[in-house]
Amino acid sequence: MQGVLLPRMQVVRTISEARAARAEMGRSALVPTMGALHGGHLSLLRLARRQTENVIVSIFVNPTQFGPREDFKRYPRPVEDDLSRCEQAGAQLIFIPEPQEMYPHLFGATQAPAGTPHPLDTIVDFPFLTSVLEGKHRPGHFKGVCQIVAKLFNILRPDLAVFGQKDFQQLRVIRAMVESLNLPIDVIAGPTLRDTDGLAMSSRNQFLSTEERARALSISRALSLAAGEHRSGVRQTNRLITSVQNMLLEQHLNIDYVAAVDADTLRPVQTVDGPTVLAIAARVGNTRLIDNVVLNGD
Ligand code: PAF
Repeated sequence: MQGVLLPRMQVVRTISEARAARAEMGRSALVPTMGALHGGHLSLLRLARRQTENVIVSIFVNPTQFGPREDFKRYPRPVEDDLSRCEQAGAQLIFIPEPQEMYPHLFGATQAPAGTPHPLDTIVDFPFLTSVLEGKHRPGHFKGVCQIVAKLFNILRPDLAVFGQKDFQQLRVIRAMVESLNLPIDVIAGPTLRDTDGLAMSSRNQFLSTEERARALSISRALSLAAGEHRSGVRQTNRLITSVQNMLLEQHLNIDYVAAVDADTLRPVQTVDGPTVLAIAARVGNTRLIDNVVLNGD
């Protein structure tokens, strides 16, 4: 087989290197990630690549978006694999900083003791959008997401940025941030990618045992069931939610929420009249998974 010559990809670890590399690029697309890249991320890269050949990927497991009892420490960090996947997918620039680079006042040499207020403590928040669903179950999560994404946007100055629809609340919050802070960035949504058995691709799937994975399939099956019911005319969300809950409970999943919300306001709706997101967050063993389907959407 003839060898394939891959274009060289630049990997940078500091903010100043990232700024310098970015300055050499034209119209650019950013795909922000926490690494442990899977097919879903790669589809976002491909989507970015269709917009411009200048694709930047950030790989950073952002500590400020994890709660104290969440899986920050055990979050997978297969850096070498991630880099080769990015290269194969045609990324040009990878920004892979350490926590002390991004948050010197929290993790650097001059850090204050944990919990001590500091002049650089930053909060960008959209309380109306972040007090529900994930934000309600993961207090502070979206403050951390907005903080890191705003920093990445400022450092890398992308013209467009790609986010997955699996994290639909995150996507909604990022769009709000871009609009509210007048950031000159187009936010593009990439569809949720699924394994052949239907499970939504997630970096956390690798934590599932074979038995847990089989039970986790009830999440996508429940969403398909509800989407089918909606197609056959069911409009009352309480009926859709009950079908979903029953299917998850049959598999002994621990439900954080099953909700039907307006796709724009994220407020619960009683009937599916406009774009409505049917969203699930549930635990299978120690692994927390989320998934959703948009009813009446585009
Ligand atoms: O979706 C993610 O992987 C993260 O929340 C993001 C957007 C990279 C911010 O850390």
